[in-house]
Amino acid sequence: PTGLLADRLARPLHDLRISVTDRCNFRCVYCMPKAVFDNDYQYLPHTSLLSFEEITRIAQLFIAHGVEKIRLTGGEPLLRKNIERLIGMLAELKTVSGKPLDLTLTTNASLLARKAQSLKDAGLQRVTVSLDALDNATFQRMNDVDFKVDDVLKGIDVAHQVGLGPIKINMVVKGGMNDQQILPMARHFKDTSYILRFIEYMDVGASNGWKMDEVIPSSEVVRRIGAELPLVPVAANYSGETASRWRYADGGGEIGLISSVTQAFCSDCSRARLSTEGKVYTCLFASSGYDLRALLREGRTDAEISTALAHLWRARSDRYSELRTNDTDGLARGAKVEMSYIGG
Ligand code: GTP
Ligand code: 5AD
Ligand code: SF4
Ligand code: SF4
Repeated sequence: PTGLLADRLARPLHDLRISVTDRCNFRCVYCMPKAVFDNDYQYLPHTSLLSFEEITRIAQLFIAHGVEKIRLTGGEPLLRKNIERLIGMLAELKTVSGKPLDLTLTTNASLLARKAQSLKDAGLQRVTVSLDALDNATFQRMNDVDFKVDDVLKGIDVAHQVGLGPIKINMVVKGGMNDQQILPMARHFKDTSYILRFIEYMDVGASNGWKMDEVIPSSEVVRRIGAELPLVPVAANYSGETASRWRYADGGGEIGLISSVTQAFCSDCSRARLSTEGKVYTCLFASSGYDLRALLREGRTDAEISTALAHLWRARSDRYSELRTNDTDGLARGAKVEMSYIGG
């Protein structure tokens, strides 16, 4: 389509990820380790959060620039009070192309069984659920708050029943922690409509103590699964998709591999991120964002904000994952924002 935005590497703007809270009721070791996110941790004060009206106004301006997919993230997005009201407001927005807006959310499922029906009624189309193990002890070591596997499975089940599909299941693989769960997870979700995706443990934020030798490369995941359950590669659904797809040779469904460490996918990354307090980040690994909330609260017009967004995207040249080396110090260690703040 003409007239839409492209950045310096000719990448379109297609996808907006909105973090609606920086809080979470889990303490996943790779995301919000207890040692850092303890009782003294300073979360954003309520007045810093964008209101639903502010979020919707920003979303609308992004959509006018070509965004067709909105994902709500956190922290844990279902902890944000009255999230259904925001979903209802976003579900009304119309894309430039006329395609229905793909409106989705990533959740740890702790509140999903309770909320699935109201989310569906509000206009949410689908959900993606994080689940790192089927073995309860392993899962609890990872979430670090004693949350049970069965309760996540229950949430997934209810979401499926109310029609919040196709449902994707995200498993972050951390070597030495849950990699022995790769096959049990694959077996469990094979022959179902759920799409299991294995995510390489990433060096996001500055608090998870990431080490390259704890990353299990996706090629290894495919090798381990394929040895028992033969796999065949499948073409991407759309340009810029995070996951590479494989299907079971016997027709038992598909899996995805998100290989941001060993096979970076920056070259067609079309994702912008809006933080809980209204800063726009053009990369997951950025160290600073552009303060849209300030523009909003200064009373700028839609036209002014829209122009600011266009400048921001046109100037974008981020490709952190492609530039990362095996050097565990990364490129901007210490300066990167946390995943719980910017949204996965
Ligand atoms: P679908 O369209 O449903 O496939 O969504 P998605 O894969 O874009 O979103 P999802 O939230 O499920 O992403 C899964 C995981 O991929 C995230 O939790 C991150 O760990 C990782 N991820 C997503 N986007 C990016 C990105 O732009 N860069 C990097 N490095 N990792 C990403
Ligand atoms: N590496 C990879 N993925 C991560 N997530 C959070 N932290 C990391 C990390 N260090 C992702 C997981 C989870 C989502 C909310 O954020 O996919 O499902
Ligand atoms: Fe919470 Fe998700 Fe981070 Fe785990 S990965 S601490 S569930 S935001
Ligand atoms: Fe996009 Fe940055 Fe992730 Fe690369 S590292 S895929 S540019 S968000």
